[in-house]
Amino acid sequence: MSQHLMNTYAPLPVAFVRGEGAWLWDDQGTRYLDAISGLGVCSLGHAHPQVAGVIAEQAGLLLHSGNLVRIPWQERAADRLAEITGMDRVFFGNSGAEAIECALKICRLVGHARGQENPGVIVMEHSFHGRTLAALSATGSRKVQAGFEPLVGGFVRAPFGDAEAVRTIARRRGDIGAILLEPIQGEAGIRVPPPGYLAALRAVCDEHGWLLIVDEIQSGLCRTGKWYAHQHEEVLPDILTTAKALANGLPVGACAARGAAAEAFTPGRHGSTFGGNPLVTRAACTVLDIMRAEDLAGRAAQTGEGMLESFRRRLGPHPALRDVRGRGLMIGIELDRDVNHLKLAALQRGLLINVTHDKVIRLLPPLIIDASQAEQIVDGVCALVEELVDHPDD
Ligand SMILES: Cc1ncc(COP(=O)(O)O)c(C=O)c1O
Repeated sequence: MSQHLMNTYAPLPVAFVRGEGAWLWDDQGTRYLDAISGLGVCSLGHAHPQVAGVIAEQAGLLLHSGNLVRIPWQERAADRLAEITGMDRVFFGNSGAEAIECALKICRLVGHARGQENPGVIVMEHSFHGRTLAALSATGSRKVQAGFEPLVGGFVRAPFGDAEAVRTIARRRGDIGAILLEPIQGEAGIRVPPPGYLAALRAVCDEHGWLLIVDEIQSGLCRTGKWYAHQHEEVLPDILTTAKALANGLPVGACAARGAAAEAFTPGRHGSTFGGNPLVTRAACTVLDIMRAEDLAGRAAQTGEGMLESFRRRLGPHPALRDVRGRGLMIGIELDRDVNHLKLAALQRGLLINVTHDKVIRLLPPLIIDASQAEQIVDGVCALVEELVDHPDD
């Protein structure tokens, strides 16, 4: 490892040099099955020929012009996202955290326009919204926040999945302007809220004139079996953030909004040098077109259902198992102990998995995995979990 990289990651001892679909190859020529997609990014698999083709073509035409001029691919990507999400306007940045920053800035503008001096945002316990200062302040994890004080203020925390707790805050405080939440919490260990939760939050927002912001950065773009996870409840948010899989690996994030939230900005109030450049937004258009043409939402729903069922059947009786949960291809397997070491154990068997919240095996495979790859992931993960009992101290 180079000593010149800042000490922010603890990478596994492997470097990939090439990928194809759900497969990755390291610099020794060893093949691995990818069950994490670079943390939910490469949903179409690696080196997708159509995506690679448009990236190469666009790189040979124009990478960057800046937002001082019109960018037709950005406009097309915005049109596609507006249609998919029901939002009116889109702002493109370069990451998930930037999309969150954009959403939070909109909340402040809308709140001020409504006469609120310090509009607050209700955020959830165990949430994750990114690593920039406002995003980590919104995040519900002391581990993420510790050492970075003073945090950005204005966040009020509620337990995830508990609509009554939000109603109680609504009764007690007059300074709230919005609710921000992940429809399914990712970093927290793939936590799916009870049915009706989002609809209940929508009702609270409507009653009090608050904005409902859904952070779909991990759960969005067909991963859970719908374009966006909140669509399982047919709830329309006011603001939606999306990133990760949007350009299948090129850095792009977007904040989409409707109504007053969509009209909050005027020229000069927000911006990004690289945001929405022709390369990433053309790639995003291609990704969205492929997701639609190949019905990747339907495919994720079907493959994910089968995998969840297999995990429940095979691991259900296991004494170390606490829960198998998820939706589509966003799957969490919670054990009764720290299982971080399983990442390396899986890698040594040619399988790439992730662990979050220490005790939860997290799977976010490419949405294009076939039945045999899904089965290989299930077999590999079940073997690792089954061995836990034999070697509890591993
Ligand atoms: C729900 C959620 N929000 C925000 C982020 C931050 O995205 P990024 O790392 O692209 O800034 C993530 C990243 O994992 C996420 O899962």
